[in-house]
Amino acid sequence: MNDNLILIGMMGCGKSTVGKLLAQRLGMEFVDTDQRIEEAAGCTVSTIFAQKGEAWFRDWEERISKELAGQKGLVISCGGGLPLRKECMEPLRASGSVVFLDRDGGDIYDNVNMEKRPLGQVSREEFLERWRQRLPIYQSCAGYTVTSRETPQRTAGEVLKALAGVRLRFLILNGPNLNLLGKREPGIYGETGYGALCQRLKDFAAKHQCTAECFQSNHEGAILDAIHAADGVYDAIIMNPGAFTHYSYAILDALKAVDVPCIEVHISNVHQREEFRHKSVTAPACVGQVCGLGLYGYEAAMGYFLEGLQ
Ligand code: DQA
Repeated sequence: MNDNLILIGMMGCGKSTVGKLLAQRLGMEFVDTDQRIEEAAGCTVSTIFAQKGEAWFRDWEERISKELAGQKGLVISCGGGLPLRKECMEPLRASGSVVFLDRDGGDIYDNVNMEKRPLGQVSREEFLERWRQRLPIYQSCAGYTVTSRETPQRTAGEVLKALAGVRLRFLILNGPNLNLLGKREPGIYGETGYGALCQRLKDFAAKHQCTAECFQSNHEGAILDAIHAADGVYDAIIMNPGAFTHYSYAILDALKAVDVPCIEVHISNVHQREEFRHKSVTAPACVGQVCGLGLYGYEAAMGYFLEGLQ
């Protein structure tokens, strides 16, 4: 991304923390307008407000905004009140994508330390009133609105998704022997190879403005690692654990340990097969299980999550 990425929103909504993460992930430079003003003015924002007043501060914001708008490759965290002045916002808007980080005002007031914030020393009611007044301004300035999540990492992920126009990020996990699809017992699993399955699922995801990344391993530990790493990176896991289904308590525990919903898929109808395949120890940690629908089962599982977005 060459254009700037501009984050706006109420003080305490997470612009700086999320902005730094985004800058890291995108290989861009992070800039905080308040910090820039403090450096240029040689004193804190609170002191400026107390000694010079708000208008003087907004003049500074205007100068800094224009300066930053002339640069490229920046993730800019804007002061909470910066969008109030059109002359500040317009140049920034023209320089890239504006994202509004939408966090509930009550949540901010109750959970964020406001001590050092210039306009933070007010009653809850006053704070909420200001938040309500600013909401439509933030919304009208932003090209994208992203609701703040439980962690800054998650919120940063949502911003990246919004910018890319991606609705869901799927992780397709396949366990042992599924790399041999096409060759392995074709009467049961069909003639399509593993590579072709992955391509089919990626195409299906793309058709629905989603992404699908495929991972297969014959090793339990590698599957555990993939599940652990999925937290905050994927919105849903579609998993065929292969024979691990029937005995891997470690996979069951891994699914329980992360906050990513999973649907278990089996290509064959395991209930029509040997008794030991009837039991899944991993399914209790899943939203549900699809079996016996061939490769379509993976798409059916993805479709379930897509339906949730309608
Ligand atoms: C399977 C069924 C499992 O019992 C078997 O061990 C597999 C594939 C299926 O997709 O039908 O490897 O998960």
